[in-house]
Amino acid sequence: MKIYVGSEEQIAKKAAQQYVDLLTKKPNAVLGGATGSTPLGLYHELARLNKEGVITFKDVTTFNLDEYVGLDGSHDQSYRYFMNHNLFDHIDIDKERTHVPDGINLENIKTYDKAIEKAGGIDLQILGIGVDGHIAFNEPGTPFESLTHVVELEENTREVNSRFFKSIDEVPHQAVTMGIKSIMHARSIILIALGDNKADVVEKMINGPVDTAVAASILQLHPDCTVYLDEKAAAKLLASGADVEIERI
Ligand code: GLP
Repeated sequence: MKIYVGSEEQIAKKAAQQYVDLLTKKPNAVLGGATGSTPLGLYHELARLNKEGVITFKDVTTFNLDEYVGLDGSHDQSYRYFMNHNLFDHIDIDKERTHVPDGINLENIKTYDKAIEKAGGIDLQILGIGVDGHIAFNEPGTPFESLTHVVELEENTREVNSRFFKSIDEVPHQAVTMGIKSIMHARSIILIALGDNKADVVEKMINGPVDTAVAASILQLHPDCTVYLDEKAAAKLLASGADVEIERI
């Protein structure tokens, strides 16, 4: 793991540079997308770079991590809607090449991992992290061998995510998520964590044992994973004095 600490803006710029480097080498790269508030700065920066002609997404294919069960793409809290509004509508991507797991016809999820493989596998996967260590919607206890599957969301996750809905009653109880193995197949991974509510879990993800209790801890075993933290999310890790290399941006 490479660990960088900086401001949200510095993180967005440095992470975006990884996309520039990749798309310069491989214009038809396969990108793994994530939702949540964390990647918004990066998406904004990617849209800016695209507008300025620094990168193009015209030959890019994307696969998103997850989707709520029961929400179709027109629902403003569906992850398809999120991706269209926060990224795809602002870049020159062919929407036909963008994939978000199907939260309505659950039969379709059986072919999601195959579709990723057929597209050549994910070159670069962006991840956020839940306060309980979930990546995508892989809640604590999810087997590391898991592929795309349906999950029951933890009440805590529903509560945290209810900030985007009118009330918690509207937050679906289930989601479709790429599994941990699906994520670990990506050639490169970027995980971004921002804010003090992530400080505990960031410290566990990096210093703790690789254990399904903290799904993100598996990333310690990924050969090319870059972690970007703001000062608040890095606070516990920095205070732990652990023997890990941390670079300031
Ligand atoms: C959701 C998503 C995750 C995301 C997490 C953190 O549960 N399924 O992919 O990483 O929220 O969200 P945020 O970035 O808003 O803190």
